Amino acid sequence: MEHPRDDAAPPAPAGWTPGAWRAKPAAQQPDWPDAYALEQTLKSLSTLPPLVFAGEARHLHSALAQVARGEAFLLQAGDCAESFAEFTADNIRDKLKVILQMAVVLTYGTGVPVVKVGRIAGQFAKPRSAPTETVAGQELPSFRGHIVNDDAPTLAARTPDPARLVSAYHQSASTLNLLRAFTKGGFADLSEVHMWNQQFVASSSEGQRYNAIAEEIERALRFMRACGINLAQEQSLHQVDFWTSHEALILGYEEAMTRNDSLTGDWYDTSAHMVWVGERTRQIGGAHLEFLAGIANPVGAKLGPAATTEEVLELCAALDPHRTPGRLTLISRMGAGRVSEKLRPLLRAVLTSGHPVVWQCDPMHGNTFTGAGGRKTRHFDDVLAEISEFFAVCREEGVWPGGVHVELTGDSVTECLGGSEDILEDQLELRYTTTCDPRLNGRQSLDLAFRVAELLRQ
Ligand code: PEP
Ligand code: CO
Repeated sequence: MEHPRDDAAPPAPAGWTPGAWRAKPAAQQPDWPDAYALEQTLKSLSTLPPLVFAGEARHLHSALAQVARGEAFLLQAGDCAESFAEFTADNIRDKLKVILQMAVVLTYGTGVPVVKVGRIAGQFAKPRSAPTETVAGQELPSFRGHIVNDDAPTLAARTPDPARLVSAYHQSASTLNLLRAFTKGGFADLSEVHMWNQQFVASSSEGQRYNAIAEEIERALRFMRACGINLAQEQSLHQVDFWTSHEALILGYEEAMTRNDSLTGDWYDTSAHMVWVGERTRQIGGAHLEFLAGIANPVGAKLGPAATTEEVLELCAALDPHRTPGRLTLISRMGAGRVSEKLRPLLRAVLTSGHPVVWQCDPMHGNTFTGAGGRKTRHFDDVLAEISEFFAVCREEGVWPGGVHVELTGDSVTECLGGSEDILEDQLELRYTTTCDPRLNGRQSLDLAFRVAELLRQ
C-alpha cells in the first residue's frame, strides 16, 4: 500500500514479526521466576484493546518530520519512572500543567510550533547498572520499575511479578484517558492559560514572568475577538495534541501491545505513540533494535558519551533504512562539558549519511551524581549548561537543535539542586519523592523553558 508522505515509516523488514526480538540477545530483561505465568500474562495482554491508535502515531510522525526539517521544536518531558503508589488525578494534572506552561513559553517566545510528548502513560520500566544490590547484608534483585517489581527492600517485593504488566497497562489506560480529557475537553484551552500556573509557582519570579505572557495572550485573544474573528471555530485554540512515550525496555510487554494496523498493514506498538531505546539497550544486533526496527511508530535512541560514529550510523541504518523525516529521534545525553567533543563527530557523521533525524538534548542523564546525603541529584546549572552547549554545537554544525528531553514533575519537590530558589544539598531530604531519578520541580521546569526559549531565539 502507498504510504502518505511524512507520516508513516516504511514497512517492517521482510519477515519481521513482533516476536522477532526473541532470537537476539536482550539486555536488561527481568528474571521472571515463572516463565509459564509470564507467557500466560503476555497472551492475555495481547488481547486487550490498544492504548493508542496507529493513526495518532502517524500524526506524531508528521509533527516530528516538521521538527526534522527545522520547522518545529520537540518538548518531551515527564517522570523518570511512573509510580503505582503515586497515581492520582492531581499528579497527572499538575504534570500536564507544567508541560503546557513550558510549551506556551517556548511557542510564545520563539514563534515556533512545539510538539508536546509526555514521558507518561507507560514510562514504568528502568534499566539498572547491576541486576542485584546488597541491602543490609542481603542480596536482592534490583528495583526495575513498578511494571516489574516493587522498590521496597525485601525479597518478596523485589521478585518480578507478571501481574504488574497488567497493572501497568491499566494505569496507562486511565492516565491516557485523563490526558485525553484534559487536552481535548477544555482544560488546555488557550483562554485557560492563567490557570496552569500553580500556586507555589505563581509568586516566584518565573511564575510572574509566565503570568505576563499569559496576560499578553489573553489580550491578543480579546483583540482578535473584537476584530470579529470567531475564535470558537479555531479548534487549535481550544485543544492541544499531547502524545505519549516511554522507553521500550520490557520487550514481552511491547510485543504483546504490537498490533497490525488494518489501514496500512503496518505493525504499530500501541503501548504509546513513540518509544525509545535507552543508553543501555541500544546494542547493534540486540533485541531492542530488532524490535524497534519493525514497528512503524516514531522511535528514539539515547546516545551517551561512549557512542561511536560507527555505532550511530549502524543504528540509523537499522532504525531508519529509508531516510524518513520524523522516523528517528537521536537523544544526546553526554553530560555538561562534553557535548562539543562527544556529540560533534556524531552530528557530522549523521549529516553526511543523509539520515534526516531529529536531534534532541537530554540534559538530565549525563549529569547525575550522588550528593552528600546519599541522594542521587542533578544541578540545574549543569542541565542548563548541557542544553546551551547542545544549541551551540548544533548551530556550528548547521543542524537544527530539534528539542529537549527532561525529567520533571509539577510538584514542588527538592530533587535537583539550584534553580532560582537555589535548592541546596541539605534540602534534598525535604521533598524527595521520585521513584528513580531526580526531577526538575515546577519552578525549575518553567525557568528552564524561559532559558531554552532565549537560546532558540538567538
Ligand atoms: C531514562 O531516560 O530514564 C534513562 C534511563 O536514560 P538513559 O538510557 O539515557 O540512561
Ligand atoms: Co531517568
